[in-house]
Amino acid sequence: MIQLCDVTVTYRDDYTALDHVSLIISKGEFVFVVGATGAGKSTFLKLLYREEKPTSGTVIVAGQNLTEMRLREIPSLRRKLGVVFQDFGLLPNKTVYENVAFALRVIGANRQVIRRQVPNALEMVGMAHRPDAFPHQLSGGEQQRIAIARALVNDPPLLLADEPTGNLDPETSWSIMELLNHINVRGTTIVVASHDHAVVDRMERRVLGFEKGVLIRDEKCGVYKEATDVREARQSVTR
Ligand SMILES: Nc1ncnc2c1ncn2[C@@H]1O[C@H](COP(=O)(O)OP(=O)(O)OP(=O)(O)O)[C@@H](O)[C@H]1O
Ligand SMILES: [Mg+2]
Repeated sequence: MIQLCDVTVTYRDDYTALDHVSLIISKGEFVFVVGATGAGKSTFLKLLYREEKPTSGTVIVAGQNLTEMRLREIPSLRRKLGVVFQDFGLLPNKTVYENVAFALRVIGANRQVIRRQVPNALEMVGMAHRPDAFPHQLSGGEQQRIAIARALVNDPPLLLADEPTGNLDPETSWSIMELLNHINVRGTTIVVASHDHAVVDRMERRVLGFEKGVLIRDEKCGVYKEATDVREARQSVTR
């Protein structure tokens, strides 16, 4: 689903946000991207939806080589992926239904498709009972559910989320993660950048750890940060 080959991203010609990163994410995986602020997590996600271009190296997403991609090809990539952000990004003057329908309208879906897909997406995120609410009438967790419905209404194979629980309390964060987990089990590949130690540790999924743009860790069943005693024990075994 995702392949990065020796990818470097340099901002302003001198600041390296991603440094020679190579990795593969297969169809159906659930992957966390962790690291301190400025480590390159958002830059990594932006590469995947072609908001940023690599300075060097190759990025392939859903069979498309983004390095060579022309501007007019970007919409066809974006149709294959949904993106969710920390601040939800809902349109304040549109209802829940309209916010989700909007994502289909911009890609030219017809009325029949919209009438079928929007209720399905709302049902999947557990918000089918509030189609007429406006974003300000919903809690943060509910707004994030709508943002996830909007990202998934087109049934894309890949969902990217940048700090999706950054503004939510622990319990609500966990319910959003359970929702993402459920979506993953149905077959969608998911990549989540997160600062949320508790959630990452509890999910026990693959963890990519970045430090100053370098991929320093890739663990199959990882935690946010390896505890010092675990690291020491491991080092003493390898010694
Ligand atoms: N458009 C830009 N122009 C210049 N520098 C940038 C730009 N975007 C990001 N950077 C720099 O690149 C580095 C990586 O940024 P990035 O947003 O990927 O970090 P992050 O891991 O997502 O951090 P956070 O946890 O704070 O969201 C940072 O030092 C940042 O200042
Ligand atoms: Mg970020």
